Amino acid sequence: MRHVVWNGERLGLRDVTEADVHALHAIYGDPTATQHMPFAPRSLGEVAALIEAATQAAAAEPRLLYVMAVVDAERRDVIGVARLHIEAEHPHSAEIGFGLHPDVWGRGVGTDLVRLLLSFGFKQLGLHRIWGARSPANLPAQLAMLTAGMVEEGRIRHHVHTPHGWRDSIVHSALEDEWTER
Ligand SMILES: CC(C)(COP(=O)(O)OP(=O)(O)OC[C@H]1O[C@@H](n2cnc3c(N)ncnc32)[C@H](O)[C@@H]1OP(=O)(O)O)[C@@H](O)C(=O)NCCC(=O)NCCS
Repeated sequence: MRHVVWNGERLGLRDVTEADVHALHAIYGDPTATQHMPFAPRSLGEVAALIEAATQAAAAEPRLLYVMAVVDAERRDVIGVARLHIEAEHPHSAEIGFGLHPDVWGRGVGTDLVRLLLSFGFKQLGLHRIWGARSPANLPAQLAMLTAGMVEEGRIRHHVHTPHGWRDSIVHSALEDEWTER
């Protein structure tokens, strides 16, 4: 799939562009937004490099990586970033990751975003399995994924190395044949 345009009621997903660098830096560069992510807050230059790499990956055939801006469906401003990575050796399966600007947290947007990523992956990309790994301490991510229908599968011990040391992950997943759009 070349260009992503996938809209829900409140949110839309589209490919990131160079013009999104400040909006993405407001998330990836923010210590609160990155507290459960396995990296230190990113610099503006690092975010620009990430967008450049995402743009190159979007041109690959087959396309495995989707880095998308999350936009407010009405105002069209960028309020988050989402990532879907298809596994090269298991192309029926993809990992998702997502982050929203702290200004919009706590209003159900995160849950809507997980729902939108699932509908994009299952309906648009034809995936069978979609999974996400979160920090054991990340309660909002846990609740957003559970409410959107992603069940907890278990714990991967020392899954990622963070600036604070090794961190376990809790894996959630949804399967196409179990999923119902909610
Ligand atoms: C995870 C994230 C996307 C959730 O976004 P959000 O818009 O706040 O999510 P929602 O408003 O849909 O809330 C989801 C649930 O978490 C709860 N919640 C939200 N913030 C909370 C908080 N600070 N403390 C406790 N519960 C909280 C909500 O009440 C809701 O629970 P409910 O379904 O029982 O009502 C957002 O916190 C975020 O961007 N975090 C930083 C990046 C990140 O951690 N990404 C996840 C990687 S796996």
